[in-house]
Amino acid sequence: MIKLASGFSFDYQNMMGTGKITAEDIVAFAPQIEKAEQAITEMRKTGYIRGHLSKDGEPEKVLFSQLPYVEEGYLNSPASLAKLDKLQKRVRNNVDVVVSMGIGGSYLGNKVLFDVQCGSFWNYKTVAERNGYPQVFFSGNNIDPQSTGDLLHYLQAEAKKKSQQTDRKYRVLIICISKSGGTLDTMSSFMVVYEALKNHPNIDLEVIAITDPNTAKPTLLKKLAQDNAWETFAVPDGVGGRFTVFCEVGLVLGAIIGFDIHAFLQGAKDMDKACQTEDVYQNPALLNAVLKYIGAEKYGRSEEVLMPYGDYLESISMWYTQLLAESLGKHYNKSGQEVFYGRTPIVALGTRDMHSQTQQHQDGKLNKVVQFVRVEHWQNDLVIPNAFPQVESLAAIAGITMSSALETARESNAEALASGNRFNACFTLPTLNAYHLGELLYLLALSIAYEGEFADVDAFDQPGVEAYKKIMQKKLATLQKK
Ligand code: PA5
Repeated sequence: MIKLASGFSFDYQNMMGTGKITAEDIVAFAPQIEKAEQAITEMRKTGYIRGHLSKDGEPEKVLFSQLPYVEEGYLNSPASLAKLDKLQKRVRNNVDVVVSMGIGGSYLGNKVLFDVQCGSFWNYKTVAERNGYPQVFFSGNNIDPQSTGDLLHYLQAEAKKKSQQTDRKYRVLIICISKSGGTLDTMSSFMVVYEALKNHPNIDLEVIAITDPNTAKPTLLKKLAQDNAWETFAVPDGVGGRFTVFCEVGLVLGAIIGFDIHAFLQGAKDMDKACQTEDVYQNPALLNAVLKYIGAEKYGRSEEVLMPYGDYLESISMWYTQLLAESLGKHYNKSGQEVFYGRTPIVALGTRDMHSQTQQHQDGKLNKVVQFVRVEHWQNDLVIPNAFPQVESLAAIAGITMSSALETARESNAEALASGNRFNACFTLPTLNAYHLGELLYLLALSIAYEGEFADVDAFDQPGVEAYKKIMQKKLATLQKK
């Protein structure tokens, strides 16, 4: 097990041993580890990573590893953080509801921050229970007429109520997020929502745009922001969508819901520092990548089930699905040879999916790694009461905390999987807070960068998503003519 000073740990004992990955496998892999370690060190220093080109085929830096460092002249600076603190003060007690619109990397990280900070019942709470922070809805992560229509009906009904109860308008803030500034899913939904609300008699509508900040060649969203005098924040060059939770995409929403963005970046920074050693058994991101790569390539474990335990952690698994699939699912290697590399990510949640997927994890094809995420100390815990003392089987679990029952379930799952030669590992967060979340998300992001080097694929592009887009554009043009 690797345990950091913060208490964060990576337990990999069920990945190694007889029938699993051996210490000799790792020794034999040393030259690739050394090469990857050098490549990542170079990326940290200069942003340069061999073989990475932008969507337009131009050389492009990779800068996500700079994001945790809040320094003058860096992507996150004391000034940019101060701007976010100011935004928080302005929105708190002044905005009723926020609609965060974006897809992929412009959505998934924000959903993680929201779930961890606010949970499922946030929007049902009173303003006082929310400490003055607004309600939050997500939209634009699909092109769905039903859910978009339902959102509009809800907002319009609330606006009507507000006008009857008070003499002020209902204050709605749309955060429109798109790095490229023109993503169809987000922009079509944005136009529907914006158009319906902008002239509503009972609504004060504000828009914040988060997009590529380039003013010489502005994105469509940037241009709209300029024309309409919307406040803007940046998705900087060199930060791909799936890494944007550490830049203003995640930080704007974080600030608006009272999430501790400073602690989040500090956690990411401490993890980056912990991952600067060449000793594979001390470097959690490197070791995780080595085990996942060897597990897939030598032992056929090419599917990764990311299975956190706890409802509000499920979106971490959805975020990771994008990170792994888009970064490593590649047709060609960096030299242009066909490799069809990739491991398949699978979303699972404990204990829920122990009653559905676990059958397959335990007895199905020997092609999976189950990667658990657990929280050691839950801030809010409940004791299972002795509600039915006459029922022996229920009385037997009385007096146990829900968190210890949750962990017992996870431990039992890990043990059962290991006994059947099923690879599994566990990340432990000492508590569920912004700092430890920053550690975990950063570890996963860095791990993917290492694996890209092992597999010799560009982990920072996504050419595969262009194929359907070309077909779809033509079809939409035909549809419009009709
Ligand atoms: O990782 C990526 O680059 C993508 O998944 C994007 O995040 C996604 O396509 C949304 O793109 P954009 O932010 O340009 O609207």
